[in-house]
Amino acid sequence: MTRFEDPVRVVVPHVLAGKLVAACTADMDGHLWDAGNVERARRVLAGGEGRAVVARLSRSVARGGAPGWAVLALPARLGDEELERAAAGVLAAIGRPFLSVPGGRGLWIGGESSADKDPGSFGGTGHNRLHVDAPNVERVPDYTALLVLRPDPAGGGASLVGDLRAAAREISEADARELRRPVYFEGRAEGLLGVGAPRMPFPVLDDAGEDPSWIRWAAKMLDDPRNAGDTGALTRFDAALSRHTRAVALGRGQLLVCDQRRAAHGRAPLGDQSGLPDGGRRMLMQAKAAFDALAPAQATAVGGSDG
Ligand SMILES: [Fe+2]
Repeated sequence: MTRFEDPVRVVVPHVLAGKLVAACTADMDGHLWDAGNVERARRVLAGGEGRAVVARLSRSVARGGAPGWAVLALPARLGDEELERAAAGVLAAIGRPFLSVPGGRGLWIGGESSADKDPGSFGGTGHNRLHVDAPNVERVPDYTALLVLRPDPAGGGASLVGDLRAAAREISEADARELRRPVYFEGRAEGLLGVGAPRMPFPVLDDAGEDPSWIRWAAKMLDDPRNAGDTGALTRFDAALSRHTRAVALGRGQLLVCDQRRAAHGRAPLGDQSGLPDGGRRMLMQAKAAFDALAPAQATAVGGSDG
């Protein structure tokens, strides 16, 4: 694996995190984080310590920033629900936080890793290959966020971040033509929230609609029997992406935020889980955010100045 950028680590000062925790609740409005929460979080972010974090997000993960992802370090000593509230508040800097998978705890869904789950899945213990979340719907979530509440005590489970645009620049014109065909399948897309209707089959390189375009990537497509016979270009894209992937170890309270147009995410296998008790294994939560031009980090980025 090679580097494509230094990890963009942004420390959220304790005072700022505390203000977000105090100002925000777990309240939802349907699948959306409640509008009052968004407003109060943005008011906190407009204060002194908040402005510096907003500026960092504007440079790293907002539209127009680079590399399109960031790691925010929240104070590890906060409680789990406090971390979730503070992390939601930080997400409000770039968009409107929402829950895309029914069954979450408010905005967040996830929990403890388990050997009972598909090893390659979210919450499993194996290699979760690079993907964007919900590549198979009308409106792919603009941002995905992963919050670590407990890192793997066995030392594995680093997050993987892949630069989709760098991979797309490396493939041949013939492969790009192939990947623009709307013939690819991945998983199931029914019953998700805030993402529109399922869209399958779909093109991997989807530049017919919105600008910036989408790269609807999930390495699992390589093994999907519905894509049988169409995997040559997928295989070469996968290889290109692996050359632009880096591992990022996340500790408690660290939040990985990815602009899904630019960064795919995944997970290295967890370490040896034998002997780890229930309540002692890696714990990870996820949430989404929809692009919002009025979000402070976006407004700053669009204005071309981040103070
Ligand atoms: Fe994911």
